[in-house]
Amino acid sequence: MTVVKNICCIGAGYVGGPTCAVIAYKCPDIKVTIVDINPTRIAAWNSDNLPIYEPGLDEIVFQCRGKNLFFTTDVDATIQEADLIFVSVNTPTKKSGIGAGMAADLAFVESATRRIAEVSKSSKIVVEKSTVPCRTAQSMRTILDANSTPEIHFDILSNPEFLAEGTAITDLLNPDRVLIGALQTPEGLKAQEALVNVYTHWVPRDRVITTNLWSSELSKLAANAMLAQRISSINALSAICEATGADVDEVAYACGRDSRLGPKFLKASVGFGGSCFQKDILNLVYLSQQLNLPEVADYWKQVVIMNEYQKKRFVRKIISTLFNTITHKKIAVLGFAFKKDTGDTRESAAITLIKDFIQENAKVAIYDPKVCPEQIFMDLSEPGVVDNRKELEKQIQICASAYEAAEGADAVVIVTEWDEFRDDQIDYTKIYDSMHKPAFLFDGRLLVNPTKLREIGFKVSVIGKNELAGTA
Ligand code: NAD
Ligand code: UGA
Repeated sequence: MTVVKNICCIGAGYVGGPTCAVIAYKCPDIKVTIVDINPTRIAAWNSDNLPIYEPGLDEIVFQCRGKNLFFTTDVDATIQEADLIFVSVNTPTKKSGIGAGMAADLAFVESATRRIAEVSKSSKIVVEKSTVPCRTAQSMRTILDANSTPEIHFDILSNPEFLAEGTAITDLLNPDRVLIGALQTPEGLKAQEALVNVYTHWVPRDRVITTNLWSSELSKLAANAMLAQRISSINALSAICEATGADVDEVAYACGRDSRLGPKFLKASVGFGGSCFQKDILNLVYLSQQLNLPEVADYWKQVVIMNEYQKKRFVRKIISTLFNTITHKKIAVLGFAFKKDTGDTRESAAITLIKDFIQENAKVAIYDPKVCPEQIFMDLSEPGVVDNRKELEKQIQICASAYEAAEGADAVVIVTEWDEFRDDQIDYTKIYDSMHKPAFLFDGRLLVNPTKLREIGFKVSVIGKNELAGTA
């Protein structure tokens, strides 16, 4: 039996960092080293101010760092020492060339794989942790085989990550399942068992699923596509609710009580964001097209189309409610991260919304508890549209609190569901008093109680709810 004693993780990002920190925490007998080519990121992992915000992460890193958890830019030496290597690098959507705008860019996976092949002096288990198109392991196999010798053998496993940001640590400590795919050969199965033994340090064996390589790769894309599909489904229904007087929360509750449907992931919103849902669905769409399955491609593409529609629909609703113009009006945007409890802004709905507000010549005041001003400026700069900071500073103001953002505003727009924006956490009367009248509030997250806010004096619009609901 192969016993894993030394793990290398290539990629110190949102997945590599938390995942391998938890492995180190739960497996004191294993040395875990996380490497990255980005020295700033590694320096941050070695500092008191970690590069990502994730509840519970600091405690785990501070407890293990320097004992059995290390962060370094010395990629080659760490690869050489390791008996198991996680490849946890970014796989963004391709920006140019064949498949641009849809296919996954596998350049980082390939360069990490080549590095492993070039510098390894002993046999290793290489694990795909990044989300990749189905059959990527085959390309990795070809690269590694071309560099294998009779003394050095590489086994490839697929072990996709299912954590969600904001709850990464609890997801990792108590996963619904861990998925490990392997080639169904004696060596493949032996490697699979070695990784199973790492996870069973803390995950019950019946939650560790073992499959073939291709099922594991495809299951990751499938899970994200189905989760996003649920959000697009409830968001599509939210448009019907607004037009009819049905209440989307009530519809979601009534549907979710069916045990076959279940209650989770039915919260209507201004649209899903995050680095993965859109990327992974487009990846699945591209895969389907490549396999000459156009109907399948169109089916999944609709999930993304619906998400774009939801964001545009929300913007249109805001403009039409504000008497068809937001020129020179002040819009206070509460939340910039793609969801609560993270500082990550990748594909955040806030970016699309605010860019639209800027195009309409509104003044936008933004407050988010965890996103730094630099990140907001970077996300809103658009080459050829608003590409210099001075220009952008004329239109946006980054605030230190929701109160500051709302001062003198014509409308407050809730974009991220941070707990501190709930009506029992923040003083909406104080906000109302400081705003221009009529004071509008648009809730893109079904976070506040509209009745309570209307009593204060706000004109409230909520996704999936119609003000006239309840009337015949
Ligand atoms: P990320 O961009 O935060 O981190 C990736 C890191 O890899 C970067 O720091 C980059 O510098 C580093 N890197 C790239 N090439 C390298 C190389 N050759 N050698 C060393 N380091 C290299 O990305 P992420 O959010 O951690 O996502 C990583 C993968 O995990 C993606 O495929 C993503 O789809 C998947 N995933 C992400 C999440 C999530 O919540 N973010 C969840 C599940 C799966
Ligand atoms: C998602 C999946 O949940 C993870 O299992 C997966 O590992 C990860 O993608 C990935 O592959 O990157 P994440 O994007 O971090 O995780 O966060 P989610 O909780 O899934 O939220 C995604 C987006 O959907 C957010 O913008 C969130 O606000 C939105 N959402 C979520 C809704 O609008 N409604 C819901 O009911 C749930």
